[in-house]
Amino acid sequence: MTETDMEKRSALLSSAGLDPSRIPKHIAIIMDGNGRWAQNRGEDRVFGHLNGVESVRAVVEAALQIGVRYLTLYAFSTENWSRPKEEVSALMDLLVKTLNQETDDLKGKGVRLRTIGDLSALPDNCQQQLKTTEKSKTENVSLDLILALNYSAKWEITEAVKGVLRDGLDEDEVDIEKFETYLQTNGLPDPELMIRTSGEHRISNFMLWQLAYAEFHFTPVLWPDFRGEHFLAAIHDFQNRERRFGGVPQQTVK
Ligand code: IPE
Ligand code: IPE
Ligand code: MG
Repeated sequence: MTETDMEKRSALLSSAGLDPSRIPKHIAIIMDGNGRWAQNRGEDRVFGHLNGVESVRAVVEAALQIGVRYLTLYAFSTENWSRPKEEVSALMDLLVKTLNQETDDLKGKGVRLRTIGDLSALPDNCQQQLKTTEKSKTENVSLDLILALNYSAKWEITEAVKGVLRDGLDEDEVDIEKFETYLQTNGLPDPELMIRTSGEHRISNFMLWQLAYAEFHFTPVLWPDFRGEHFLAAIHDFQNRERRFGGVPQQTVK
C-alpha cells in the first residue's frame, strides 16, 4: 500500500467516524432484496440481480479501501434451486459473465477468489469459470473474496461430520479446533460482522457455525441500492457494540 493510499484510507475512516484499529477482519453479507427492488420498478426479478452486481463492486472496493481482509458474500443457497428455472439460469449466467469480466480487475487489485458450497451441482460453464478465476491468482493478496455458491450451513456441517468419520478419528481426537478444519472455511477467521440487507431478520442457513459470536447488522436497504456508505455505516454500528463473549460489561469489571 502506497503512502497516498494510506492517507486516503485514514481520511475515509475518519470521515466515517471509524476507529482504524477496530475494522472487522472478516465481514459476511447476505445480499438480499434484488427481486423486490426490480418489482418496485415494475421489472422482472432478474433485473434486480443484474443491478446487484454494481453493489458487489462497490462493497469490494470499500473493503479494499478500508482494509477488511476477508469478505464473504452469500450469492446462492441450496434452497434457491426452488426458484423458477429461468431465474436460476439467469443467476448462473450472470455469475459466469461477471467473473469473466472482472477476473483481471480483481487480480490487479489484489483480490483472491475462494468459494464455499457444493460447486459440483453448478452448471459446467460456471464450474469452469470459477476454476479460471481462482487460478488467476494475485501475488499480493489484499482481500479474500469468498463466494457462497450452492451453499447451506447444514450441508457444510454434515459434510464435515462425514469427513471426520471418513478419516476414522477417535472421539478424543475431535474438539472444536479439529472439527473446524473439516469445514469449508478452514483457515479463515470467523466473521465478526454479518450484514443482511432488505429488512429480513434471519440467517437463511448461512454460516451457522462461523457466526456463533458475530454481531448482526440488519438494514432495510435493498441489495441493488447498497453502496460503500452503507457498508461503512454497518461497520460504525459494529464499532458501537460491546462484544462480551459471555462475560460482563466492561465497566462492571473491578
Ligand atoms: C437476493 O435477492 C439474491 C439471491 C437470493 C440470489 P432475492 O432474489 O432473494 O430478492 P427478494 O428477497 O426476493 O427481494
Ligand atoms: C438468502 O436469501 C440466500 C442468498 C442471499 C443467496 P433468500 O432470499 O434466498 O432467503 P429467504 O428465502 O428470504 O430466507
Ligand atoms: Mg430474498
